[in-house]
Amino acid sequence: MKDRLIAPSVLAADFGNLQRDIEMINNSEADWFHIDIMDGVFVPNISYGMPVLDAINRHAKKTIDVHLMIIDPDRYIKEFAALGANNLSVHYEACTHLHRTLQAIKAEGMKAGVALNPHTSVDLLEDVIGDIDLVCMMSVNPGFGGQSFIENTYKKVRQLKEIITRNNASTLIEVDGGVTDKNAAQLVEAGADVLVAGSFVFKAEDPSRTIKNLKSLVNS
Ligand code: DX5
Ligand code: ZN
Repeated sequence: MKDRLIAPSVLAADFGNLQRDIEMINNSEADWFHIDIMDGVFVPNISYGMPVLDAINRHAKKTIDVHLMIIDPDRYIKEFAALGANNLSVHYEACTHLHRTLQAIKAEGMKAGVALNPHTSVDLLEDVIGDIDLVCMMSVNPGFGGQSFIENTYKKVRQLKEIITRNNASTLIEVDGGVTDKNAAQLVEAGADVLVAGSFVFKAEDPSRTIKNLKSLVNS
């Protein structure tokens, strides 16, 4: 069985102590840094941008997984590659020529991801699944950390897994939003490979132990 991965979302970190929180992730059993970039247009919130990602990249020792919640993401593909992104996910709903965007991401040496809003059907990926390295399945409406998990996600993960298997693709399924120790096991059972966790990790008394527990929960 493939190792299931944990990706703490830096959005929930203490930005006044960002280096401390990055080191916590470096020294924990976490696998990826999940970085949420919001533009205030595609989603009703603005998170942080290039200078902060640059600072994160200077300290982070693990895969940098960037989730773009921005319109017209093609404009910034080269810039995110230069800032150290290893994975770059764009929203299905923000791309007119998704296939072209995916090729442009790969041409910069990054893994190409597609994020899906809760209302977007996984069936829309059928014709492009072979070109997608990672699907970031939103289990909340994007824009904010700390929201509650949408239960319909289990069904979408199962349907997506079926599409991946049927097409012999190697796409990873990442679930993003409201992930806790209450839904993690059921998500991997449905077919999830990567779980993003923001509030659940950073609001915990011991974030590093919380990551360790989540990691063993999804790999048992
Ligand atoms: C939501 C972001 C998520 C968020 C997850 O728009 O894409 O990555 O940071 O945070 P939690 O785990 O608190 O729902
Ligand atoms: Zn995210």
